[in-house]
Amino acid sequence: MSKQEEKKLFIETLGCQMNDTDSQHIIAELKEHKNYTTTTNMEDSDLIIINTCSVREKPVQKLFSEIGQFNKKKKANAKIGVCGCTASHLGEDIMKRAPYVDFVLGARNISKIKDVIEKKGAVEIDIDYDDSTYQFAQSGTSLYKTSVNISIGCDKECTYCIVPATRGDEISIPLEMIVQQVQKDALNGAKEVTLLGQNVNSYGRRFSDGREKTNFTKLLQEVSKVEGIERIRFTSPHPLHMDDEFIEEFAKNPKISKCIHMPLQSGSTSILKAMKRGYTKEWFLNRTKKIRDLVPEVRITTDIIVAFPGETQEDFEDTIDVINQVKFDQIFNFKYSPRPNTQALALEDLEIADDIGSARLTEVIELHKLHQSELMYSNIGKTVSVLFESLKPNGEVSGFTDNYCQVFVKGSDELLGEIVNVKITDATRTALKGEVIN
Ligand code: 5AD
Ligand code: SF4
Repeated sequence: MSKQEEKKLFIETLGCQMNDTDSQHIIAELKEHKNYTTTTNMEDSDLIIINTCSVREKPVQKLFSEIGQFNKKKKANAKIGVCGCTASHLGEDIMKRAPYVDFVLGARNISKIKDVIEKKGAVEIDIDYDDSTYQFAQSGTSLYKTSVNISIGCDKECTYCIVPATRGDEISIPLEMIVQQVQKDALNGAKEVTLLGQNVNSYGRRFSDGREKTNFTKLLQEVSKVEGIERIRFTSPHPLHMDDEFIEEFAKNPKISKCIHMPLQSGSTSILKAMKRGYTKEWFLNRTKKIRDLVPEVRITTDIIVAFPGETQEDFEDTIDVINQVKFDQIFNFKYSPRPNTQALALEDLEIADDIGSARLTEVIELHKLHQSELMYSNIGKTVSVLFESLKPNGEVSGFTDNYCQVFVKGSDELLGEIVNVKITDATRTALKGEVIN
């Protein structure tokens, strides 16, 4: 077969880490099978892809304004494709609103990328499509870190969330495929792996070949046997599935990074019930306490939605109470955004006025800033181990501690890929500064 002419791909990724990995798969597949290389110059590209997010309304609006601009400025024959969650939920309507779009590829159908780019007008959005055992071409991203999908879809029914409608039912990727991928990445120099899924700690309940069930703790144990991998991270776990076995493995396995995302969403038990989260305020506090007791240096991050329909001042104060008790290291804050195909749409009558929602959001942000400063300054004087991964233009090198705090030191590229002890000398609300200890 003659070598295909080299073509340029411009890809923009919105949304979560799952989308980042999907984009890496798209890049790798198109490189391997269609001779595409990536470019950051849209106007010079032969193929423009937007990998979309539909979790809130804003990114969806952004999509249409952006592809309109791309269409005006692109090269004459360049194709435009819309992939990801908005592709899944809007499907053909995307082409009705933007007829110049060449193809639409849903989040669950990423393995079809090399075919759809050849089919003008293709719309592939089947949410029952199962590519959990598809062997994607090897992607060549960051040297020291890698991300590996461990499941597709989500079986939960959180009433505000569009994801089950865009990514379909949960199917786990076979354990040996995950381990093999991690082994390959480790051979290529990766020291850190992030295991990704919509709901990672319900791993192992359903496989497409109907094999015996397993669980996330077992997967963590297998991945930690991979030679060369020194840090394991994962996102997102669900607080409901944080049983004692999982928390104990998290605490005692030295390869597991001591940073955990615990998406609270709300601190009010009655709002949690309306959200169908499956846990109470007390359960959440009990789990964070257990983790903190076993792992005092743990950093805990969270997601919070304010102004869910029906959220009273008292409900909101429960959220503030949990924030005060846990003191999260990072909070991703959101104001509730009504989404199509979700159960909470039926709660329209209970919607919270926008100014109240904005005021609650501001209160969460301000409180969190206080906690963040306090937590970050408490690191000054400590010695931490840092995996260095990038060189900054100002002569600093940046890396992350085991509990995932960003650290900057003066240094050179000799530090890259190394795990080194650093004494912390200064802090801001979001990062630490330090000196390498020899
Ligand atoms: N409105 C606001 N935030 C939402 N999220 C998911 N759906 C919505 C919505 N309809 C947030 C949740 C979730 C994060 C990824 O996005 O906090 O954990
Ligand atoms: Fe959405 Fe809930 Fe599934 Fe997370 S666990 S993706 S919030 S339905």
